[in-house]
Amino acid sequence: SSDFFADKYLQDQHWVITAGPTREAIDPVRYISNYSSGKMGYAIAHAALRAGAKVTLISGPVNISAPRGCELIEVTSAEQMYQQALTYAPQGTTFIACAAVADYRVADIAKEKIKKDNEHMQLSLVKNQDIVADVAKLANKPFIVGFAAETQNIAHYARGKLKRKNLDLIAANDVAKAGQGFNSDDNALTLYSAFDEIEIPLANKQVIATKLVSLINQHYLAKST
Ligand code: CTP
Ligand code: CA
Repeated sequence: SSDFFADKYLQDQHWVITAGPTREAIDPVRYISNYSSGKMGYAIAHAALRAGAKVTLISGPVNISAPRGCELIEVTSAEQMYQQALTYAPQGTTFIACAAVADYRVADIAKEKIKKDNEHMQLSLVKNQDIVADVAKLANKPFIVGFAAETQNIAHYARGKLKRKNLDLIAANDVAKAGQGFNSDDNALTLYSAFDEIEIPLANKQVIATKLVSLINQHYLAKST
């Protein structure tokens, strides 16, 4: 195969990756979601597998197929993703929170289809639990990488999330820039740790993922030695 000469430098590692959007039901036929395609998370899963890692991919609904060889756990809502992530994360060496988790869910999901009886209607929303922040609270926590999709003050918000959620690394991208981020084939990232800041310039998500996986491993090895 094309991987014949690939260096299996992750062969002793187990990566648990969240990817894609979540869907929050409103009624039996409607939901709230976002534009996440899952491409970045799936590209990371693929790159980690190529490097020899065991990979568990916890994915919201996407239109792409899972890379061969990964353990795919399909979920729909943020609550389901939370349950699966907290189940699998303790087994992993590395946890990558690439999913675009819905921040809020509908307070009372209607049992029947909502009729358009009124000129105005309101939905009451409640905040979902923070998956990556709770993984970081585990006693036997893996090495943890978050993502931050921002439209402004990227470094400030990314560093804030790194600290507040107690992450080892955060990969930030400017989703306001055309052709990168949500639902795009390309991306550009800045990787922040408490100690350094590394630019990964605009490229195809497969290329970005290959670089990112290697950089994550370097930081993982630096922490564990
Ligand atoms: N995340 C998560 N669980 C949530 C919300 C976010 O695990 N309920 C993770 C994302 O997968 C990502 C990181 O937290 O790795 C940052 O997500 P982001 O949406 O940028 O940050 P939030 O904390 O949700 O803050 P805000 O949306 O207000 O910027
Ligand atoms: Ca959010």
